[in-house]
Amino acid sequence: MNIVLIGFMGSGKSVVGHKLASELGLTYIDTDQLIEEAAGLSISDIFAQKGEAVFRELETETIKQLQGTDGHVLATGGGMVLRQENVKMLKDLGPLVMLWAEPEMIYQRVKQEKHRPLLEVADPQAEIKRILDKRTPVYNRVADYKVDTTKLSVNECVEGIIKWLKSR
Ligand code: S3P
Repeated sequence: MNIVLIGFMGSGKSVVGHKLASELGLTYIDTDQLIEEAAGLSISDIFAQKGEAVFRELETETIKQLQGTDGHVLATGGGMVLRQENVKMLKDLGPLVMLWAEPEMIYQRVKQEKHRPLLEVADPQAEIKRILDKRTPVYNRVADYKVDTTKLSVNECVEGIIKWLKSR
């Protein structure tokens, strides 16, 4: 089995994913990390040197290469589910668990960080709201289970997901 984490930047995929993987005895992997390793470049450098379109191709390629694998908690980049073909392949890997957070909370979580090229803009707070509004319907539509992480601890998020997995 795999569990696929989807959702916006700063929604907690990495921190919840690591804990979930350790609780379930699965291996945590992250599509951004796989892309960085394969390209030998950071996500920021890929965006800057090759452009977002190339990055989106690399995302699809990464998911293709994971087909048939097992035993992972797979965290995906916030834009991964925007392509229907990616969603289809992700669903073949395992259930899609969506992490969500209020825009203000997302801003608090990401504002010190410098590795998210989409938020390197004059007004990141407005940009978070804008992209989140656009993507939330997509996340909602494709998710098999949703967790609003805004007011929950990492442990509470993980417990909720495990409870849901057991109830299926
Ligand atoms: C992106 C989210 C990032 C990374 C890239 C683009 C997005 O991943 O894939 O910067 O389009 O939302 P995280 O969600 O892990 O920050």
